[in-house]
Amino acid sequence: MTTSTTFQGSNPPGPTGLASIAALHQLRQNPIRTMSALARTYGDMVHIGLGHYRVYLLNHPDLLHEMLVRQADIMHKPRSLSRPIAEFLGNGLLVSHGDYWQQQRRIIQPAFHHRYLAHYSRVMVGCILQHIDTWQPGSVYDVDHEFMKITLRMVTRALFDSEITENGDDIAEAVKILQRISYGQGQDPLEIPTWVPLPQHRSKQQAIRLLDDVVMRIIRAGRANQADGDHLLAMLLTAITEEGVPLTDAQIRDEVMTVLLAGHESTANAIGWMWYLVAQHQDVAAQLRGELEQVLGSRPPTADDLRMLPYTAMIVKEALRLFPPAWALPRETIQDTQIGGYAVRKGSLLFGVPFTIQRDPRYFDHPDEFRPERFAGNAERLLPRHVYLPFGSGPRFCIGNSFALLAMQLSLAVIHQRYHLELVSDHPVELDPLLTLRPRHGIHMRVCPV
Ligand code: HEM
Repeated sequence: MTTSTTFQGSNPPGPTGLASIAALHQLRQNPIRTMSALARTYGDMVHIGLGHYRVYLLNHPDLLHEMLVRQADIMHKPRSLSRPIAEFLGNGLLVSHGDYWQQQRRIIQPAFHHRYLAHYSRVMVGCILQHIDTWQPGSVYDVDHEFMKITLRMVTRALFDSEITENGDDIAEAVKILQRISYGQGQDPLEIPTWVPLPQHRSKQQAIRLLDDVVMRIIRAGRANQADGDHLLAMLLTAITEEGVPLTDAQIRDEVMTVLLAGHESTANAIGWMWYLVAQHQDVAAQLRGELEQVLGSRPPTADDLRMLPYTAMIVKEALRLFPPAWALPRETIQDTQIGGYAVRKGSLLFGVPFTIQRDPRYFDHPDEFRPERFAGNAERLLPRHVYLPFGSGPRFCIGNSFALLAMQLSLAVIHQRYHLELVSDHPVELDPLLTLRPRHGIHMRVCPV
């Protein structure tokens, strides 16, 4: 439901005049640090205005409820940020809107039903084991890159019944290029047309061509198997829309590309950050080992085992609190409205920021510390609504959240049964908040057999 507006209220607190220009510049340079500093200075709702350009930062769970749930129907993914992404995702689920989005969500949702989780977990364990079998004990790997390849294989095998193993390195590289260039384009007020022959446009087109080729191979293989089987690709190939017609090739391509990228990239990020945390906390690593030995011994876990591995789940949740891959949730208002008692005009940009809310001392004691025990028992359910939202909320809630949680728990368990991952101390680990929260220089770790 939309609140009516009168537009008599002033703006929420925030920098004005030259300070707003500086703030917008700093938001581009270092968004997380700037958003956290602005929240500390100005509070739960920050306004930055420059002429007609209006940005609001929402740092309170009630405001996130407004944006993601109560007024979801008038909050679109911002055009400026979606445009560069749509160049490769087309009109897939992540960027589509309205009735079309709803139809596509209905078609895709069944692939994430919990009845498939046992099957997905078998596929995932196979992918992890197959990959870590290639690790040389004692060697150093960029685990960010390694987990990209593992989760890519998980998504393609589990959801598309397909194998694309030979060019995992190229795909991971292409995704990195797309992230960096698209994020930069989303920030650029100039909106330079893509036909202008800039080096970054050429790199982007090259990366898109590579991914397109992968997606088309997946779809062709699915068609050749006559869409046999119970997986997302088969669902897309046999879907009938509300008009009673099959999806077009372009529609199938867009959804496969969206799930392929959204599915593997955020999950790999989350797993990388989780291992980064575990490697720095010997006590956590030891308690995890105890749980795994007691419940599993040396056999690999199944989906049924996960209920008996509460500490593993607590580590996963705590890692997602400290390093939420979707560190900011952007929206654009498509009509005038009111939020937090303030008038907000059509075309304003809103950012809900899970990264700051999930580290807010009002909701989490010692918020910057890694303490899996804060998620013991039913602690998550007792948290105030929308202070912990790594998968978003409302109608656009992550469609793959149980798939992602499964992948994270299984990666933690299977790898920890065999290896102790040791952080390489002379390699920097820095946040790189792009479309997702990536490690700027990767995360270098030595894999030591237990
Ligand atoms: C740890 C891993 C993941 C995280 C943290 C994550 C987070 C999110 C968040 C926060 C959103 C909502 C974005 C918004 O409201 O603006 C979202 C949407 C989405 N996610 Fe995930 N995600 C993860 C894994 C996955 C996986 C495994 C898949 C698929 C296999 C997936 C597919 C999608 C799709 C298609 C959407 C768009 C849904 C829609 O708008 O209807 N994600 N994700």
